[in-house]
Amino acid sequence: MFNHNRVRDHIPEIVKLRPAKLKDLHRIEYIMHEAGKLHPETYRHPVLFINTLDAILYHLAFVAVDKKDRTIAFVLFDNLPERKMANYIPKNSLKLANTAVSPQYQGKHLEYRLACYGLTHCKYVNTSDYAWCVIHPDNIASIKSLTAAGFCLVYKNVDYGYGIRNLYVQKLR
Ligand SMILES: CC(C)(COP(=O)(O)OP(=O)(O)OC[C@H]1O[C@@H](n2cnc3c(N)ncnc32)[C@H](O)[C@@H]1OP(=O)(O)O)[C@@H](O)C(=O)NCCC(=O)NCCS
Repeated sequence: MFNHNRVRDHIPEIVKLRPAKLKDLHRIEYIMHEAGKLHPETYRHPVLFINTLDAILYHLAFVAVDKKDRTIAFVLFDNLPERKMANYIPKNSLKLANTAVSPQYQGKHLEYRLACYGLTHCKYVNTSDYAWCVIHPDNIASIKSLTAAGFCLVYKNVDYGYGIRNLYVQKLR
């Protein structure tokens, strides 16, 4: 279950969370490139553009925006088949597929906030019983944010195709 009780930093009022719109697509893609310096192998893949579009159209994409409604962070979910992970993930599960925060807005727990916000919304538009995600073992910020948002480590060192990742799962209903 979500850990909504964890106390987090005050988020400046200018930052709002909302479901993503088509107009956010290019900013989401830009933030992937901007924030993706640490894991370049994960980003700049054309399939990501299609997956982002898909997530927006299926109401599985969520953004944080500044006071000018400019996207500064995002989280994307999907239900796409994952043959490589089929032996590890629970049946009927939703993937937290991608998330990043624009570098100048990092340090405000926006990944945690967006993950909680997105998971709460997904429960209404999606019938999945579980949510899952993979995190690079060195990505301390994501490990902290997504475990605080309710994900639990279930497998270490899974070959995810883009490299070794740890698998996290949480029950939604
Ligand atoms: C991962 C990412 C989304 C997190 O951004 P964020 O929400 O601003 O995260 P924060 O900077 O607020 O950090 C969250 C926690 O991790 C800690 N943290 C951040 N970087 C850290 C580091 N290098 N070492 C140790 N702890 C770190 C913070 O202190 C904070 O801890 P707290 O909960 O105890 O206060 C952002 O760094 C990013 O966009 N990275 C590139 C893309 C990426 O890795 N996406 C995730 C793929 S799973």
